[in-house]
Amino acid sequence: MVVENLQDDVKTVVDRWKGKEGNLIMVLHDIQDRYGYVPRAAALEVSRQSGMPLARIYEVLTFYNYFKLKAPGKFNVAVCLGTACYLKGAPALIEEIRDILHVNEGETTKDGLFHLQIVRCLGCCGLAPVITVDQKVYSAVKKSDVMGIIAEHSKTI
Ligand code: FES
Repeated sequence: MVVENLQDDVKTVVDRWKGKEGNLIMVLHDIQDRYGYVPRAAALEVSRQSGMPLARIYEVLTFYNYFKLKAPGKFNVAVCLGTACYLKGAPALIEEIRDILHVNEGETTKDGLFHLQIVRCLGCCGLAPVITVDQKVYSAVKKSDVMGIIAEHSKTI
């Protein structure tokens, strides 16, 4: 994702929350809403414009799971590694995805298309093992299905 007008974007957000209680979190929320994550350059700019130490900003960013420090992919591929999915072969699905996309958990492919996320129980254990790509749920997934699932989304570009 190209981050243009970063200084102006950060100024708008910092000005909006200036002097308000809990403003650092709100500033970071606004930045993530805008970019889909909090780029390091934006964190540096928040520090520069607000006078808040960068270490404090990263304390907040790393404390809350909500904040993303890396650009998300166009598609979020979530593999469930809850007990039911684990027992029904989810680890092999993860291996297959890693082999095909060359990413580890929490990483996005170089082309920015796919982000791999490992989750714990999606609440549909009867369908195990489960993969979701954004809102679409794939159930009883076999290792041999993975390539097709990835290809299905690559085609939509
Ligand atoms: S363990 Fe995977 S959906 Fe519950």
